[in-house]
Amino acid sequence: MDDRPIGFFDSGVGGLTIWRATRKLLPQESLVFLADSGHVPYGEKSPEELHDLTSRIVRFLLAQDVKLVVVACNTATVHCIGHLRETFPQIPFVGVVPVVKTLAQRTRTGTIAVLSTPATAGSPYLAGLVEEFAPDKRVINVGCDGLEDLVEAGQARTSRTTALLERYLAPVLQSGADVVGLGCTHYPFLRRRIKRILGPRVRVYDPSRPVARRVRQLLREGDTFAAHEKPSYRFYTTGDPAQFAAVASKLLRFPVRDVGYVEL
Ligand code: DGL
Repeated sequence: MDDRPIGFFDSGVGGLTIWRATRKLLPQESLVFLADSGHVPYGEKSPEELHDLTSRIVRFLLAQDVKLVVVACNTATVHCIGHLRETFPQIPFVGVVPVVKTLAQRTRTGTIAVLSTPATAGSPYLAGLVEEFAPDKRVINVGCDGLEDLVEAGQARTSRTTALLERYLAPVLQSGADVVGLGCTHYPFLRRRIKRILGPRVRVYDPSRPVARRVRQLLREGDTFAAHEKPSYRFYTTGDPAQFAAVASKLLRFPVRDVGYVEL
């Protein structure tokens, strides 16, 4: 047993898609979420900047006495998880990466598509996943600049977002891909719109639940489940707490209150 909370971080509200799946799967766990909204978007940062930011964030989460850290951001995972594991060997990490293996297994047309930030799309990590799991597939790798900013601004359900999605999804539609992976944790908040544009023949994969199941597996292996009847949910941001609270509450349909401001 271990009643300490699980820590999560992302560049903003996107990681809440994984927070939400974890809360649902592990309702007895307390959770601490840090949104690095002061430095969003990560998709346009260099690997060095990301190493620096994510190390500071993990130090902050360790100071909150977390028992495990979920890197609830593809961009941070593909560029930093190795570095974080080396720097903080005392804590287990769970990351999130585009689900290339699942896409390769499920496609019938032989063409798969991945939507992610430009930094993830161009990363050696993603290239490695494709080489390992989808060497014989045609891969439509779309770096989607700006989508996460619209989600952060509380504009997920606007025509501006739909227009941008239509632009990014055009090559996917033309390619004949029948499976699409959401390679940025902000995108599950756009899932309905994405599905509407792609139509019923294209299946959309969101890694939130598999990540939550991985968290459960690690807690089981370490015998570190918590047993809270009333778990606590704490939120911090490096940006504007009121803005985070408003956007997060709307996206989650859950009251996110008392958001703390953190300077890294
Ligand atoms: N949500 C993040 C991801 O999964 C990054 C968004 C961003 O800040 O660019 O990649």
